[in-house]
Amino acid sequence: MANSKLSNLSNYFIKYGFVLNDALIYNGLENTFVYGPLFLAIKTIIKQKWIQEFITNKNCVLIESPIITNPDVYLGSKHLKQFKDCFIDCKNCKKRFRSDENNSKISSCQFCKSEEITNPRNFQLMFEVNKDKFKSEKVFYLRPETAQGIFINYKEIGFVNNLKLPFGIGQIGKSFRNEINLNNFLFRLREFEQMELEYFFEYQNLNQVEQLFSQFENLVLNFLTSFGLKKENILLKNVEKNDLAHYAQKTTDFEFKFRFGTFELCGLSYRKDFDLLNHQEFSKKKLYYLNSKNEKIIPHVIEPSIGIERLILAIIDSNLTFENNRYLLNIPFAIAPFQIAILPLVKKLNEPAIKIFNSLKNEFRCTFQDKKSIGKRYYYQDAIGTFFAICFDYDSLVDFKVTIRIRNNKEQKRILISEIKNFINKFING
Ligand code: GAP
Repeated sequence: MANSKLSNLSNYFIKYGFVLNDALIYNGLENTFVYGPLFLAIKTIIKQKWIQEFITNKNCVLIESPIITNPDVYLGSKHLKQFKDCFIDCKNCKKRFRSDENNSKISSCQFCKSEEITNPRNFQLMFEVNKDKFKSEKVFYLRPETAQGIFINYKEIGFVNNLKLPFGIGQIGKSFRNEINLNNFLFRLREFEQMELEYFFEYQNLNQVEQLFSQFENLVLNFLTSFGLKKENILLKNVEKNDLAHYAQKTTDFEFKFRFGTFELCGLSYRKDFDLLNHQEFSKKKLYYLNSKNEKIIPHVIEPSIGIERLILAIIDSNLTFENNRYLLNIPFAIAPFQIAILPLVKKLNEPAIKIFNSLKNEFRCTFQDKKSIGKRYYYQDAIGTFFAICFDYDSLVDFKVTIRIRNNKEQKRILISEIKNFINKFING
């Protein structure tokens, strides 16, 4: 997928410090990033919103399970046997690339187009770690999805929290995959953050599953559009049987029209009772739950799973324009890293401008900037998506007014300092 449109986008992320290449003093490590304050601001908002929509508004709870767990979990879940990817080596340029095992179409190298390539081969996607300091034979794994930490503990979590079916258990956290193809910036990372909900329910019939599944489809779709992603750019794709993950009975991929192509943004799967049945069989522990009639049943599971970095890539991608040599990030007010910038015309005016900053900072995400010319500071704030810029100038000392500049239409208004909050709230709430 790597193409110039994606690298233009990654240049933007790096230029404005959303993302930094990690460990540059040691020449870095391929596709390994530090997330800067602007990125983290958006990440935090996304997580809060996910908790609101997927946990608080439902009969659901949030947990945090360990990244390294008992490795038997992945025997039980069948990840050790089946969570594999396929790669091809080029005998000419010696590069390695990902392929689909069933994809007979690949006849030449993705990089140099040589036809001297190997047959597709499988490799394990999980990262191995040797956790034992006495170097026993035991191999541990970094979790490849947050979901397993929920399945193996669901019974205790449900019991101590008095949860009655149907209920959900959600988790936000890092997952790790030993990905082959690392040329796609934030799209495919070895270390990424997932927001996953496992929704447990008593199976009645297929119709019930279809209904529940489509409710979750709508929930995911509404969640995505709430960040300014346009509905027409999100495609719901029913994954073909052959392409389903080993645990899934049915999956909808939410594909997004990125500027660099249309690709999976997140997914919704019906995992049936696959995980619980397999863990029960392998662990030899009963994993039933009691239904409303006190009968022992193995619940079925529907799982929305969203990668945060990929979502931020989509949000920035769909809101960023580049015109007249300048970036403009038209991100919605609610998720802008900064909502208001306070800019004294000159440093001499810092003191009264800081007073304005202090009066707004508890209600809005604010930034204060006094370096460089006012014009350059406006452009910088446009580029990072700041919704309003407030300039305090010499006249402000006399008329108690400031100039407020609106990012979207570049309109500038002169308003009383005492009216700033009113003005912003009115503008935002319409
Ligand atoms: N528990 C189900 C599961 O993990 P998945 O389709 O493998 O399903 C879910 O992953 C989501 O996690 C993806 O749709 C994507 O948003 C994100 N994701 C997966 N692998 C990723 C990677 N290597 N880099 C960044 N995000 C990734």
